[in-house]
Amino acid sequence: MSTSIENIGLFTSGGDAPGMNAAIRAVVRTALYYNIQVTGIRRGYEGMINGEMSLMDRRSVANIVQRGGTILKTGRSEQFMTPEGRKLAYEQLQKNKVDALVAVGGDGTFKGAQLFGKEFNIPIVGLPGTIDNDLFGTDFTIGYDTAINTVVNAVDRIRDTAESHDRLFIIEVMGKDGGMIALRTGIATGSEAVLIPDSTSDINAVFARLERDRRHKSSKIIIVAEADEESGAAFDIGDQIKEKYPNYDTRVSVLGHIQRGGTPTCMDRVLASRVGVAAVEALLDGHRNEMIGVIHNDISYIDFSRAIKHNTELNPKLLKIVEILSL
Ligand code: F6P
Repeated sequence: MSTSIENIGLFTSGGDAPGMNAAIRAVVRTALYYNIQVTGIRRGYEGMINGEMSLMDRRSVANIVQRGGTILKTGRSEQFMTPEGRKLAYEQLQKNKVDALVAVGGDGTFKGAQLFGKEFNIPIVGLPGTIDNDLFGTDFTIGYDTAINTVVNAVDRIRDTAESHDRLFIIEVMGKDGGMIALRTGIATGSEAVLIPDSTSDINAVFARLERDRRHKSSKIIIVAEADEESGAAFDIGDQIKEKYPNYDTRVSVLGHIQRGGTPTCMDRVLASRVGVAAVEALLDGHRNEMIGVIHNDISYIDFSRAIKHNTELNPKLLKIVEILSL
């Protein structure tokens, strides 16, 4: 390992995700293990531009592995998407003697990191931190497992009401560009249908299914991804169903930001810890402009340009499972 890196800047950016704190802890402790300093940058790229940064030590990451959110805070910065903003950010890093970066976030975070790394020739690696699980080059992202377990708990509760009242519930889950949350939670909750943007979400097929199942099913649950292009928001689908099946007692429930918070699951803590350790070691090994993930239980390295392209494809077999099991 080369030891030319002396001070790693660490930040979280984009939507918070449970397990980000475990990643912060892992990066800080690994860097200290290798005698490298860590500068914590608050509020993502915006904080970098404003110079909101200070050195971290072992104690600054004590007792955080179990906490949701991010102690470094986060945000989405428009200013960083401009060359002027990035120049200001670089000047702040120089002032604080930061000579490498670890970015924890999702698609937008890595788009920014990719530009920044090239413009200023600063070594950057990224950790996949988003509940959406929509990054290419890792089987799972930090926060996804917690989020889907939160959704499953919520839908199970709603199922009690659906069953007791013979109701149909349209439940909207997060995922602004993808349906990973919807797909897995749809299977796990025994939902009657899942509508997602990155598949052939077909509302007519759902209608046909409702027609077919109407006689023998008392409760019905349809999971809709936030950004389903075909059908629009859950309320639109609710309206369509109310119009077509006025005899159904239909309700719409939007789970919203409860999906982003809460205690990270064991899987998210372990994933975050593994990629956090690997990120520091990757920087020392000369990796640049790459996201560190896990594929088939092994650490993976994927160029930012590939990670951010939404190359993630939904497994059609999982979609088929929803259909087969909801008979
Ligand atoms: O990217 C994570 C995510 O939770 C998406 O699933 C969701 O569409 C978006 O963030 C919501 O962002 P905000 O909290 O800024 O409204």
